[in-house]
Amino acid sequence: MHAVGIVPAAGSGLRLGADQPKALVSLGGRPLVRWAVDALRSGGVADVIVAVPAGRRDAFEAVLPADVRLVEGGMTRTASVRAALAAAGSSADAVLVHDAARPLTPPDVVARVLAALAAGARAVVPVLPVVDTTVVVDADGVINHDVPRAPLRRVQTPQGFDRATLADAYARLDDTAELTDDAAVVRADGVLVTTVDGDERSVKVTVAHDLALAELQVSTVRR
Ligand code: C5P
Repeated sequence: MHAVGIVPAAGSGLRLGADQPKALVSLGGRPLVRWAVDALRSGGVADVIVAVPAGRRDAFEAVLPADVRLVEGGMTRTASVRAALAAAGSSADAVLVHDAARPLTPPDVVARVLAALAAGARAVVPVLPVVDTTVVVDADGVINHDVPRAPLRRVQTPQGFDRATLADAYARLDDTAELTDDAAVVRADGVLVTTVDGDERSVKVTVAHDLALAELQVSTVRR
């Protein structure tokens, strides 16, 4: 099975309070995007395409291995993945989409996603259980009802797909649709999405606190 990795990295650093694209923010001396690419490669995905913000190609080229392909991303994550998927062409059997915002994903997670695809899954995502009590509130913030948490899962990346299945789903997706992950894109096309175990270390860096926790994780491992 030939798998290609897609790393959407064209987001801004707005919620992180960064003055540069979030994917270029440093964690333990390495930009987040480099961690994400290395995670895919350590897990067995050698061929990687990164979607970068318009006008920032040079900055990304400077921090990534020379054999990583770069494409210009779009205004939304959906548009960025669409651009990278087009660049992937049709030679790969499988695609793993991994957010640059998840730098510390262990290689085991990547390997589990690849194994599920090799076993015949058309779409697979890593998930974790929800440990907090979870509720629905009304417009005033008053609790409306509890949600039974046993069947709930938090969805991570990399998300793995049969390449043609993902390409077909994106082709049929409304141009204006903005979905927050790729599993939602194939589900909108009627595809069943299976799950494998995610990992708590595969945190998503969104706000400054997440970056501080990730720094702690890196320094603990290095000690
Ligand atoms: O904003 P958020 O953290 O949810 O974005 C998830 C991933 O999608 C990030 O790695 C970000 O760089 C990427 N993204 C993108 N193009 C956009 C917006 C987000 O590639 N226009």
